[in-house]
Amino acid sequence: MMGHLFGLGWIFLLIAAANIEAQKKSSRNVSTKCLGNIMRVDVGPLGGSLLDVAVIINNTATVLTPSIATQCGFSMKSDPFGNALIYVSLQNCFAQNVEDKMFTTALQLRLHGNQFAEDELYQVEETCRYDTWASREVICDYNYIEVSVKRAAPDEFPLHGHPFSSSNSRRAAEKMPMDVGFRATTVVFFAQEGEKPMSLADAQKRGYGIGNTPTRLVLRSPVMAPETFLQNVAGVPMRVLKTSTIFEKKWLATQVDAAAACPLQEGSVFFTQNTITWYLPRKIDPMISSGQFHLLEVHFGINGQRLDAAEMQAREYSVALNDFYIVTELPIGGVGGYYKSHIQDDLYYVSYMIEPMLELLWTEDATYEQTRYKVFFHITTHLLPQPLELIDHTVPEDKMFKMMLGHFAVDVVLINITFPAEVLSTSDCSVRGFNILEHMSPNSSMKFFTLQVPFTDPAVLQQTSEGVTVYSLHLTFGLMLLDDHVTFSHKAYLEAAVKDIVPPSVSGGCDNNNFYVLVKYGTQGYNFQTMVGKRFMTPSLAQHYEYMENGTHFSFVVPFSAPDVAIEAIESSSIRGRLDVVLSNPEMNSQIQDFSVACHFPSTLTECFPNGTMTALALKMESVPSLNPRKLTLEDPSCGPVHSDDRYAFFVFTVNSCGTTRKFMSNAMLYENEISLPDALLMEKGLKSEEPEYHLKVSCVYDINTSHAVAFNTRPRRSEPYAENSKGQLQVVMRLALDDSYSEFQNFEDYPIAKYLQQPLYFEVELLKSTNPLVSLELENCWATQDEDRTSQPRWNLIINGCPNPVDPYQVAYHPVWPDVRVGYPSHFKRFEVQMFAFAEDKDDLSTKLFVHCDVVICDTKNPLGGVCGGQCSNPKNRIKGQT
Ligand SMILES: *[C@@H]1O[C@H](CO)[C@@H](O)[C@H](O)[C@H]1NC(C)=O
Ligand SMILES: *[C@@H]1O[C@H](CO)[C@@H](O)[C@H](O)[C@H]1NC(C)=O
Ligand SMILES: *[C@@H]1O[C@H](CO)[C@@H](O)[C@H](O)[C@H]1NC(C)=O
Ligand SMILES: *[C@@H]1O[C@H](CO)[C@@H](O)[C@H](O)[C@H]1NC(C)=O
Ligand SMILES: *[C@@H]1O[C@H](CO)[C@@H](O)[C@H](O)[C@H]1NC(C)=O
Ligand SMILES: *[C@@H]1O[C@H](CO)[C@@H](O)[C@H](O)[C@H]1NC(C)=O
Ligand SMILES: *[C@@H]1O[C@H](CO)[C@@H](O)[C@H](O)[C@H]1NC(C)=O
Repeated sequence: MMGHLFGLGWIFLLIAAANIEAQKKSSRNVSTKCLGNIMRVDVGPLGGSLLDVAVIINNTATVLTPSIATQCGFSMKSDPFGNALIYVSLQNCFAQNVEDKMFTTALQLRLHGNQFAEDELYQVEETCRYDTWASREVICDYNYIEVSVKRAAPDEFPLHGHPFSSSNSRRAAEKMPMDVGFRATTVVFFAQEGEKPMSLADAQKRGYGIGNTPTRLVLRSPVMAPETFLQNVAGVPMRVLKTSTIFEKKWLATQVDAAAACPLQEGSVFFTQNTITWYLPRKIDPMISSGQFHLLEVHFGINGQRLDAAEMQAREYSVALNDFYIVTELPIGGVGGYYKSHIQDDLYYVSYMIEPMLELLWTEDATYEQTRYKVFFHITTHLLPQPLELIDHTVPEDKMFKMMLGHFAVDVVLINITFPAEVLSTSDCSVRGFNILEHMSPNSSMKFFTLQVPFTDPAVLQQTSEGVTVYSLHLTFGLMLLDDHVTFSHKAYLEAAVKDIVPPSVSGGCDNNNFYVLVKYGTQGYNFQTMVGKRFMTPSLAQHYEYMENGTHFSFVVPFSAPDVAIEAIESSSIRGRLDVVLSNPEMNSQIQDFSVACHFPSTLTECFPNGTMTALALKMESVPSLNPRKLTLEDPSCGPVHSDDRYAFFVFTVNSCGTTRKFMSNAMLYENEISLPDALLMEKGLKSEEPEYHLKVSCVYDINTSHAVAFNTRPRRSEPYAENSKGQLQVVMRLALDDSYSEFQNFEDYPIAKYLQQPLYFEVELLKSTNPLVSLELENCWATQDEDRTSQPRWNLIINGCPNPVDPYQVAYHPVWPDVRVGYPSHFKRFEVQMFAFAEDKDDLSTKLFVHCDVVICDTKNPLGGVCGGQCSNPKNRIKGQT
């Protein structure tokens, strides 16, 4: 039974007294426990060391060999966790016994033979008090049977007579203590083949232990000693020791009978799949001489220590009594026991071991003698197949193989793992980044290993096709049983397929009014957040933007005027707007896709109406985020927006107000204004540099579809001179009268008309198609050029700001206009007279043409506002239209 105990051995050796100085070289926790008539020493984990146990008496250490241990009442075991336990009978050969009440045993423990640790030496001494001795105490230990009986002389008989012929010979001892003069001389064994008397010395030579304490006789026999015999007790095979010890004194002799029976595992223990059932006869016949007996106490324990009812229930142990047996049931795999590994035909098995203890106290009616009976039982199940399982816990998204290999008894170690290209020890594996861990199973006393191998490791093969990558791993676990160094292995193959991750994508475009955005989900599905401009796509925003979803895509439409659109630029006939769409992962807080689309949206920000009204829309642009459009004004800071908010300001004004300037161009008249933050505001704030720069020029070009040429030498170019504004409603004509009566005019077909120098030219300018008497036409500037282009040089001014050019020697003369058949509204007419002239350089070449141009102003007669409208020869500004 000792053979499989790892790391333990009895060695017979005597060590000189000088060597026993106990030296604790480490803080090992060696503890002792008094457990009734035995004592237990817990040595703790051996950690690969060998343990030698010696007994110290009179400063001399006697190392215990297996036979000394058996003979003297010692046993030892270690569990697979490496914890060593020593069981010591209080009545061992070496105990210092004080009146059968105090028992002191001193042990010396030596741990050695471990290449990784220094030898350790411990001295342990324990005194156990035990004075409740029953008449008979029996200990069935793993390796010995011990019976201790009260030494009383039941009957004396004449020496040399046959002691066992007496009818009293089997009677139990009476209360009278044996006379001190008696000395044990002979032990008679009642063996299978009959009585076997043996001298004390012979018996001790044969491995029996015989001892006398002040009041007791102690007999110890190896379990399988030849003088013991097998007896079937109520169906349970038991090893029986039956003796009579003869004490002599002079001519008298007396005898003390001692009998004990210990059960064998075979025949008393039965296994089912999950349960161990142990039957101990309730009435152990070889130990009960009279028919009647009473069982007083039954105790159960593990490793020599009694358990109370609550502990037993917690561990699912049960002890029941029936008429014949004490039936103990223990769950296989429960705490308190342990598994041991076995390899057979390369298959893994375990056996479960547990060391239960039963302690009985009974009394025999006839004698009132009490027997305390203690059985240490060592139960080992037969081999239980334990197929090794590799459970694949891989989650492909984690990008590593995760597996669990189990379950093993704790006496298995993982040595190495063989990969196709190499063998790695467990420590190599850790260095390589494979996470190898050993775990205890929560319920059973078994363990398992977990291993993680990243997909990126070269040991992992990978193959990609059609957007799926398959990772595979072949491995062989190399394992070993700690006890006997038997190796075995387990092969495994793992495979994991990972779909290549395609992120979601965004596409989009525009028409003249809207942005159109389409989002295609990636392989991960809809697991992202969408941000449009600076806002998250909430359900209400989604509804606003015509959000549609079909399981693989979603789309939405954002009008260019939406607040999520950033205005990048404002151009004459369009707005450049940009929409940003960002897809992000809310968990990782990371951006997946960043998409922008920018488009030009045709848009009339400035409108020019024929009646001289201009409207302008000023939009806040991305480049001036701090702008408050409400504060924008036209050139004239008193002209603010008609309506505005954080994003725009809308202005309505007339071309002759709000600081609008006017420019003449060859075929058009250009009105300009500028929208900006008023300087006053900037100054007032004193923050000029911090205020955003915003200048938006607004202009209106009123087309003058034609230029009417007045020439003097050749035929006119056009039949009818006319002017037209951008809407073609206001028309002004200039014509040449034949005389100052202004009743007849030069035919337009006759242009150019030849005139001589100093000959007067009678001009008339008329506002056509207007029936509004409240407007007047005023001449602002008139001038002559040689070229048809009104801006060409040289140029001679005839009228400046409504007044004749003061430096002109032949000044322009105005002629009044009276109503007549042709003149409905005199205010719509202007007449003036110029004397024909030539440019200096042309004096000799009178064939050159001369073109006369005029800028005119249409004025509101009720509200002339000064300037040209205030009357001839003052300064400009009111309703205007221009022409040559
Ligand atoms: C020694 O054992 C005692 C009792 O079991 C325990 O309280 C103590 O912590 C142990 N000491 C060490 C060092 O293990
Ligand atoms: C131990 O010493 C005591 C006293 O010195 C002696 O009586 C006893 O016999 C000795 N025991 C052994 C086992 O040597
Ligand atoms: C552990 O014990 C619980 C409760 O006794 C049981 O339900 C469970 O199945 C056990 N687990 C294992 C792995 O044995
Ligand atoms: C790996 O472990 C197995 C089983 O323990 C053993 O037989 C083998 O020799 C080891 N291989 C190497 C290279 O260490
Ligand atoms: C979802 O809409 C997208 C874009 O319109 C289209 O390409 C796709 O086929 C649609 N899917 C389904 C399942 O209808
Ligand atoms: C000028 O014309 C526009 C468009 O026809 C009109 O909305 C506006 O009221 C007019 N303004 C004036 C002062 O007549
Ligand atoms: C000017 O008007 C005439 C007649 O209405 C038209 O044929 C011509 O195309 C116009 N020219 C321009 C430059 O608009």
